Amino acid sequence: MLPENSTTDKPLNCFQRPRRLRQTATLRRMVRETILSVDDLIYPMFVTEGEEQKVEIASMPGCYRYSLDLLLKEIAEVSRLGINAIALFPVIPENKKDDTGKESYNLEGLVQQTVKAIKQAIPEIVVITDVALDPFTTHGHDGLVDENGTILNDPTVEVLVKMALSQAAAGADFVAPSDMMDGRVGAIRQALDAEGYINVGILAYSAKYASAYYGPFRDALDSTPKFGDKKTYQMDPANAREALKEIELDIAEGADMVMVKPALAYLDIICQVKETTNLPVAAYNVSGEYAMIKAAAQMGWIDEKQVILETLTSMKRAGADLILTYFAKEVALMLL
Ligand code: PBG
Repeated sequence: MLPENSTTDKPLNCFQRPRRLRQTATLRRMVRETILSVDDLIYPMFVTEGEEQKVEIASMPGCYRYSLDLLLKEIAEVSRLGINAIALFPVIPENKKDDTGKESYNLEGLVQQTVKAIKQAIPEIVVITDVALDPFTTHGHDGLVDENGTILNDPTVEVLVKMALSQAAAGADFVAPSDMMDGRVGAIRQALDAEGYINVGILAYSAKYASAYYGPFRDALDSTPKFGDKKTYQMDPANAREALKEIELDIAEGADMVMVKPALAYLDIICQVKETTNLPVAAYNVSGEYAMIKAAAQMGWIDEKQVILETLTSMKRAGADLILTYFAKEVALMLL
């Protein structure tokens, strides 16, 4: 209804009317700037020991810790849905953890066996393995710790190199250092090349922040640090220029792709990183971001499907070429 005294018989003197391009779904599709595709998605998945295990993670409804047999079935399914890549995270039993994290480079360890089995059963899926000690250490830190609780950078890098080599030997396509030690990308690249793994790539968690959004992931892995926090190695959420410095270093050291993590509270960082590099930029839509959407949806407070698509589209619009997301399977189904 028009209000009384409306004068719409005299149009506004308005030559630019942006709404013209929004009139129909067809026009909106024609001028759409950002298209989310299943090709953009990397699916993080959790593997646990044993058989016929599929245990839901309480703070990540819809995400499971799978034993290898069921993980292979799930990967076959997500691969059929068009997902190109998975990022693998192991749940290590307490009796295999120690303060040096040596299980991380066991050639017959959970990650190594899992990668071998995946590459045998579903060779087309790109397998990205995590390089960091936190799933393997009793203290839950990503690096080695001295008696004062100080994280030891260079000795940690030595272990990370062994870990990356063992993953490459198992058949990983990309190793993804998520530990934030200085110099680890260069050390891993040199070691991979020296051992003949010239085609194994590095997806560097370059700008990884000390974020409270990792809580549900640490529940999933039972890897919450037993003391202290990760602020001496992960970045201060207040810093942007420092992210560009980290990105620059990782590129100089040999990274093939760089990552910003978390994603949603760091869209400005994704945007700035994209402007500084021609390498593919990945964004990690982390566990806490996933949990917030799931929780609000379970309460009936938001339209889950629309919020997921809007959130992931915002990451792409900011400049992400690839998105690691626990929503990958759901989104693949939506985009079918
Ligand atoms: C640890 C690691 C973490 C995540 C990926 N690798 C947690 C941490 O740094 O404590 C978090 C992922 C998520 O929250 O989804 N190397």
